[in-house]
Amino acid sequence: MDRSEKMAIWFAVLLMVSFAGALVYAFFGLNIRFPGCVTDRTPFTKGKVIQRGVGEYEVQYVAKMWAFEPAELEIPVGSKVDIYLSSIDVNHGFQIKFTNVNLMAVPGAVNYAQITFDKPGDYPLVCHEYCGAGHQNMMGMIRVKPRESSLSGAVPESDIGIEQPKAEGQPAVSEASMALLNAKGCTACHSLDGTRMVGPSLKGVFGREEELEDGSKVTVDEAYILESIKNPMAKIVKGYPKVMVPMPMTEQEIKQLVEIVKGIR
Ligand code: CUA
Repeated sequence: MDRSEKMAIWFAVLLMVSFAGALVYAFFGLNIRFPGCVTDRTPFTKGKVIQRGVGEYEVQYVAKMWAFEPAELEIPVGSKVDIYLSSIDVNHGFQIKFTNVNLMAVPGAVNYAQITFDKPGDYPLVCHEYCGAGHQNMMGMIRVKPRESSLSGAVPESDIGIEQPKAEGQPAVSEASMALLNAKGCTACHSLDGTRMVGPSLKGVFGREEELEDGSKVTVDEAYILESIKNPMAKIVKGYPKVMVPMPMTEQEIKQLVEIVKGIR
């Protein structure tokens, strides 16, 4: 065998070993996991955003000709998002630009990926699998917002020389309260951290003055919270869709929820 041939073979072997090494390093060293199909989840037909905690979301994405649902998602920077993806018609692609999330939306199956958004900005969603006449228009958007303090241009607390307890990472409510909010479906549409979702955020809602659809104003007190739980359509805050339905719950649970909502600062 010619020397150059031997060199080529050894070079190829070396390359293969380094590629395999890179895979092992990515898995154990960088803790990168491959996105996968979730077999214990029933495929869903409606998009949904569930806030599990502060900065923790579960998003159930539905791909369909030719849109994603939810089409737009707004979350604060640093959020950890569990993405579940299904399709209600044909195969679609699902790529979040500027990230390594790249999934297939398959009818009858649920695929999964997890991502933490460390940088604020707009992350477009694109369908990268040809799915019919409207394929090139099939897009969505994830807006990752900077922390509120930097949004308003306020002086960071650390710069005014007063030691303030850090709000971030501190849950807005106790674990038991969060469990009840989740169980009753509240967190599917109402955030606890000021993020705009389907319904108004519950952050600091008690005592807030809200403008209603008809232009009148209401101050959020116990009676308003109670009414909004029992009869959500009665007084809709301006700019929000009329979609909330009363959830089955006991008087005791309603009382607890009113107290919880009052306490979300
Ligand atoms: Cu959906 Cu292309």
